[in-house]
Amino acid sequence: MLIVSNWKAYVEDSAKAKKLVALAKRLSKEKKHELVLAPAAPYLALLAAKNKSRVQFAAQDVSATTGGAKTGEMTAQTLAALEISYVIIGHSERRAMGESDAVIAEKMRHALAHGLAPILCVGEHTRDTNAEYLSFVRAQIASAFAPLSQKERMAVVIAYEPIWAIGKSAADALPAHELAEMILYIRKVLGEYLPGKAPAKIRVLYGGSAEPENARELAAGSGVDGFLVGHASVDPAMYSALVKTVS
Ligand code: PGA
Repeated sequence: MLIVSNWKAYVEDSAKAKKLVALAKRLSKEKKHELVLAPAAPYLALLAAKNKSRVQFAAQDVSATTGGAKTGEMTAQTLAALEISYVIIGHSERRAMGESDAVIAEKMRHALAHGLAPILCVGEHTRDTNAEYLSFVRAQIASAFAPLSQKERMAVVIAYEPIWAIGKSAADALPAHELAEMILYIRKVLGEYLPGKAPAKIRVLYGGSAEPENARELAAGSGVDGFLVGHASVDPAMYSALVKTVS
């Protein structure tokens, strides 16, 4: 399983950040999972420097542009130089700030050009009885995948994060059988962009109130390849219980 911790802006002091990294390093010794941490940008360089453990790092976002006179931008090239492996792109919290599918596609392009694996977030606002949410997710995947080469597509990780399930509790998350349906659907959509058995090789994660209480069930029967974890990833007890329960 690939377990990505999305710290969002929850961790605002370096002592707590270092503690969470130490915990992840301890948990990673079991070699059962690929653990990835996505701290806020200022901590990224600090924590990823001289990292010799199995824990890997992700940026929470990346610029849609290259370097130059662009105040405040964090480019893919800068991240690649820090030996960051992954970058979260198109998180619903960034889309809510006005990030469009076109901008997301640009971010994907820049990340891939510098060898960063994008964790592309997709997910609907609400579930409707006409299943229009499926077309919504399909369009998000299509606009990110269409411009990419086959090789680039294979490097992408998809995080299915229904917005209505984010930041709540296990009881409000997507049930395992619905996740199983969604994973099948996402792989079917990927089949429009990848040949033969290739869609089965793309890792699809679930995010949205993944907690120790529901992670095992979600992991067991759904075909999911891991989790993008928000609030539970910054609570040491919840994080370690979650990692252990999906083992
Ligand atoms: P959550 O966040 O686990 O707190 O629901 C997940 C995410 O937004 O990536």
